[in-house]
Amino acid sequence: MVALRASLFLLPLLVTLAEAAPVHHHQRLRARSPCSAISGSSVSGSGAALSSSSTSTSSATSSKPVKSHSTKTTQATTTRPGAPTSTLKTISTSSTSAASTSTSTAAPASDKVVAAYYSDWAADIITPEQVDFDRFNWMDFAFAIPDENFNLQFTEDDSEDLLRRLVKAAHAKGKGVKLSIGGWTGSAFFSSAVSNDANRHTFVQNIANIYGQYNLDGIDIDWEYPGIAAASSSNGASPSDTSNLLEFFKLLRNTLPAGAVLSAAVQDWPWQGEDGSPESDMSAFAEQIDWVTLMNYDVSGSSSTPGANAPLSDQCGNSTYPQANAVAAVAAWTNAKFPADQIVLGVPSYGYVSQSSVNHLYDKRAHIRRALQVTSDAGSTSDGQVLFREVVSQGALMQQGGEWVGNNGFVKHWDDCSATPWLKSDAGEQVITYDDPDSLFVKAQYASQVGLRGVNMFDVSGDTTDWVLTDALRNGLGLS
Ligand SMILES: *[C@@H]1O[C@H](CO)[C@@H](O)[C@H](O)[C@H]1NC(C)=O
Repeated sequence: MVALRASLFLLPLLVTLAEAAPVHHHQRLRARSPCSAISGSSVSGSGAALSSSSTSTSSATSSKPVKSHSTKTTQATTTRPGAPTSTLKTISTSSTSAASTSTSTAAPASDKVVAAYYSDWAADIITPEQVDFDRFNWMDFAFAIPDENFNLQFTEDDSEDLLRRLVKAAHAKGKGVKLSIGGWTGSAFFSSAVSNDANRHTFVQNIANIYGQYNLDGIDIDWEYPGIAAASSSNGASPSDTSNLLEFFKLLRNTLPAGAVLSAAVQDWPWQGEDGSPESDMSAFAEQIDWVTLMNYDVSGSSSTPGANAPLSDQCGNSTYPQANAVAAVAAWTNAKFPADQIVLGVPSYGYVSQSSVNHLYDKRAHIRRALQVTSDAGSTSDGQVLFREVVSQGALMQQGGEWVGNNGFVKHWDDCSATPWLKSDAGEQVITYDDPDSLFVKAQYASQVGLRGVNMFDVSGDTTDWVLTDALRNGLGLS
């Protein structure tokens, strides 16, 4: 059952519900979970398209990240990712108002969150024991799904075994595991689970039981989304969802043991209030939960006019969705009185495969016996998500002299507007929009500059075996 195309037909409805904002999801494609990147650019037909007409490498070369300002060296990272200086300059300026509204000061480096999601469906790519807890201090185990009785259900045969092993591996290094509840396809029953006092008590008690049973360190609530039936129109949704959610968090906080960490995965803007627009005062939530993770990805998915999966900012000022990027998200949350040091920037370890819109091929194609095409996780060469490690292992990207360059017909470009790379193969008629060590370094550096709590990568399986993405994030945060 491939639901990608079917899901895209739902877009007009979703856009109405979400007030024309791009809808994000938080579950990568997997065989048994129909879900889709909801692409802002697909909705409008234009969106924040990358310059797909460019076949020249010269502009990309002139604007690719400079590698000069990092003085740190670690043996694990062979690249020294850097940022286009113009990007950083603008970001510092545009984020001033956001940072200044926060009453909190930046957390000390030792408090920085370096997290990732561990997806139970990706255990064939990375086992719990292969997660390097020297590099991470938190893992969010994805997902436990609330059912109609507000019990929590795992979705894989070996989910519980994997969770136990992940907790064991984390605790052996003094690190923590949160259980993430919900996700894109797991948010059907949140609305009823928090809707009244009795339901909240049932739901919270079930969470507390599982918390003790698995010796957890925290709970991550990934409701997509309060007030909005996002993945399915049959998802529960109510104008009271957000205020009910606050009551739920109070009860959960009071029920779980002291020291339990509570987080929530959120859109680039605050939860929707009674009137259907984002809440303007989130300070009551900040008193109950430790941090939110901004799901700043899936801003654009597969498309004939692809845009960035995870824009850092609307650097060029012409995005169709100027509110859907990291800088805008931090501004939106901090303007809503949510402290910067309780915001974790979510970043992707995957990208999107798109069929490009070129209508002619290079002559030299005749010399390429068979053009490389990258296959998405769902097995398609025309659309779908693809892990960074797959872009590398399938041969579209390689390291050369400490730099990531296109390979096998793919040319790497750098999109200044979103501060992300993209790959294009004319022979293979593909565009791949993704994040790499350079773009993740820039995002983490931004997070550090404006005093965010840290970063969280979705998901851990997307990095390479030598952790190039994670190390770029760590470097960007100023950690060695
Ligand atoms: C946005 O502006 C930049 C810089 O002027 C340009 O390269 C890019 O194509 C524009 N994007 C869109 C979607 O118009």
